[in-house]
Amino acid sequence: MADTELRQRKAKADDGHAKENAKLRAKSQQDDESGSVRLDILRVLTFLFIASCGLSYVISSGESFFWGMQNKPYYLKPDWWKAKFGGPIYLTPDELAQYNGYEKGKPLYLAVNGTIFDVSNGLNMYGIGGSYHFFAGRDASRAYVSGCFQEDLTPDLRGLEDMYLPIDDPEIDSQWTSTEMKELKEKELAEAKERVHSGLKHWVDFFTNSPKYQKVGYVKREEDWLEKLPLPELCKSNQQKRKKRARRDQN
Ligand code: HEM
Repeated sequence: MADTELRQRKAKADDGHAKENAKLRAKSQQDDESGSVRLDILRVLTFLFIASCGLSYVISSGESFFWGMQNKPYYLKPDWWKAKFGGPIYLTPDELAQYNGYEKGKPLYLAVNGTIFDVSNGLNMYGIGGSYHFFAGRDASRAYVSGCFQEDLTPDLRGLEDMYLPIDDPEIDSQWTSTEMKELKEKELAEAKERVHSGLKHWVDFFTNSPKYQKVGYVKREEDWLEKLPLPELCKSNQQKRKKRARRDQN
């Protein structure tokens, strides 16, 4: 009888231990689960942080890990979206001049052949201190063709074809009859004008097709703006580069 009682008590005690163990196991399982949820959250946050830093670094071209860029990419700027969907803008030369990098918060614009481009993404070239800053805030079409970056910062292309024309020389030119010379000069002039045109077109195409830049509008000018300006001269360096016509027997 005493033996049976002893066995029953032992069984009860074992049962109690088993229950206790099960409780402990359940609690530690719960602890494990909540720990792993916290770890998962930490992992996601760490991933997001690193991804954000990486993305900022790539988008800012190495400028910042924390989105603190001076020169935001074009698609992060409201002006870019405005230009894309809001239709072209029209600026007078004076208004265009305000977009030369000196007015804070304004994008950088330049114009070629009357078309305005947002070149804010070329800050190192067109911004203050940039090697091509003189192009910002104006239409300097003439300089794009002539390469005279001091004298030719104007949209006036009149007479620019002279840079491609030979200099007359009575002795050499006497090899042609006057009719021949007239025809030759007409041909030379047409070719020279074509070279000016394709030189300018090169730059219009460059800005139009560049993924960095955005066409935003047009320069607004008075109808007779060109006649009001004095006729420009060929810049000195291009005058000096002009050569005499090649002798007929050398052609
Ligand atoms: C008619 C003559 C020229 C014109 C109109 C011209 C115009 C330009 C323009 C508009 C850019 C900026 C391109 C961009 O936005 O990505 C540029 C860049 C550049 N040009 Fe010229 N250029 C001329 C001649 C030259 C010459 C003769 C040289 C070399 C001796 C030169 C060297 C450079 C260099 C190194 C860059 C890159 C500048 C930089 O990354 O900061 N260019 N050029």
